[in-house]
Amino acid sequence: MIDFSKYPAEPFRIKSVEPVAMIDREERLRVVKEAGYNTFLINSKDVYIDLLTDSGTNAMSDRQWGGMMVGDEAYAGSRNFHRLQDTVRRLFGFKYIVPTHQGRGAENILSQIAIKPGQYVPGNMYFTTTRYHQERNGGIFVDIIRDEAHDATLDIPFKGNIDLNKLQRLIDEKGAENIAYVCLAVTVNLAGGQPVSMANMRAVRELTNKYGIKVFYDATRCVENAYFIKEQEEGFADKSITEIVLEMFSYADGCTMSGKKDCLVNIGGFLCMNDEHLFQDAKEMVVVYEGMPSYGGMAGRDMEAMAIGLEESMQYEYIRHRVLQVRYLGDLLKEAGVPIIEPVGGHAVFLDARRFCPHLTQEQFPAQSLAANLYVESGVRSMERGIVSAGRDNKTGENHTPKLETVRLTIPRRVYTYKHMDVVADGVIRLFKHKETIRGLRFVYEPKQLRFFTARFEEI
Ligand SMILES: Cc1ncc(COP(=O)(O)O)c(C=O)c1O
Repeated sequence: MIDFSKYPAEPFRIKSVEPVAMIDREERLRVVKEAGYNTFLINSKDVYIDLLTDSGTNAMSDRQWGGMMVGDEAYAGSRNFHRLQDTVRRLFGFKYIVPTHQGRGAENILSQIAIKPGQYVPGNMYFTTTRYHQERNGGIFVDIIRDEAHDATLDIPFKGNIDLNKLQRLIDEKGAENIAYVCLAVTVNLAGGQPVSMANMRAVRELTNKYGIKVFYDATRCVENAYFIKEQEEGFADKSITEIVLEMFSYADGCTMSGKKDCLVNIGGFLCMNDEHLFQDAKEMVVVYEGMPSYGGMAGRDMEAMAIGLEESMQYEYIRHRVLQVRYLGDLLKEAGVPIIEPVGGHAVFLDARRFCPHLTQEQFPAQSLAANLYVESGVRSMERGIVSAGRDNKTGENHTPKLETVRLTIPRRVYTYKHMDVVADGVIRLFKHKETIRGLRFVYEPKQLRFFTARFEEI
């Protein structure tokens, strides 16, 4: 039986269900070939347990669905925008909020208004869409995450922290005026969902204050980050998640947010800041790319559901179950000897494809193939986070070769039960037993941007 002190039972009842079916192995083999060995190209109807992403795959609460019924769909000045604005101001503490259709909408606007061509944008590891918008606007991304984050086997807390020496070195070498801002992600998705400590956020603020450099957070999974601080950082055990989140953002000048994660909704996002001039610039951009500053690509009902979701996400029982359910899956895999990124982060368990498929080189796309094979083995959909996601260097055209070559098993919020985690673990463990059968892949179609979404492959 599950140890409920370690892995708490679901703090909700299920009121509406969506039946799922599993197609047989032969069929799955046909599906994966047709999808060019890219799990993004598989249809949802052919998937049994969908761990492709935690983005927009959340189950909403009855209160959120109730909120959907009071959408004020006025073109301008929607009541729901004011509710969202008030909620974000209260919970995050920023002065200004610009709604966007999702996180990358906010990244697009921030990159356009805050980066001058040739400026550096240091960050704690890259994220695909974030780096894309930074580079598209002439920014040069520099990875300043602590070295340990690139080592899948090191089980230490706060692996997402910024290395202050790396940041200081960049300032000394390039000059503070050549740094657009520091981009600090809480948590760090591609490092395995690793959190950043409060002490690190405070130290980054102190250092950047000395030079007048702005700090923008990628707040996408800020509530998960806050849980880790409460659980693991000295002095925070008795603080509420709300207090911790507010303190985190007190060390930032603003943030971009993909509401599709910790806001517990299916679509939406926003950009926050304290600087009035920057806010004016952002408003000028939002009307070009998203819509009026009072809806930014979202329906009124979506903003209402987002405001409610953000409040629900900060309830301790919810976030504790969320993070510990993910850890449960990680623990099952670890006990079976399956190589994963350690420690297990907030939103996903990452399989370490280098150790899972030691017979393949990184150029043979081991993580891509592992994700495709896991689908065939079990009907579970996951995604590659390795060389394919990293893309090519803008200047040289060579592949980026990240140290972490992983498959992400991403757990949607409030969607699956512990039993589903057992089924996933069973599939991964079965595949691990015949891992030598996983073959390398080569591109048959490689898109120029964000190639992982739509690329196609064949087996070597
Ligand atoms: C860390 C992080 N930042 C930004 C984004 C982009 O957000 P969206 O998918 O809403 O555009 C994501 C989405 O997966 C993310 O995980």
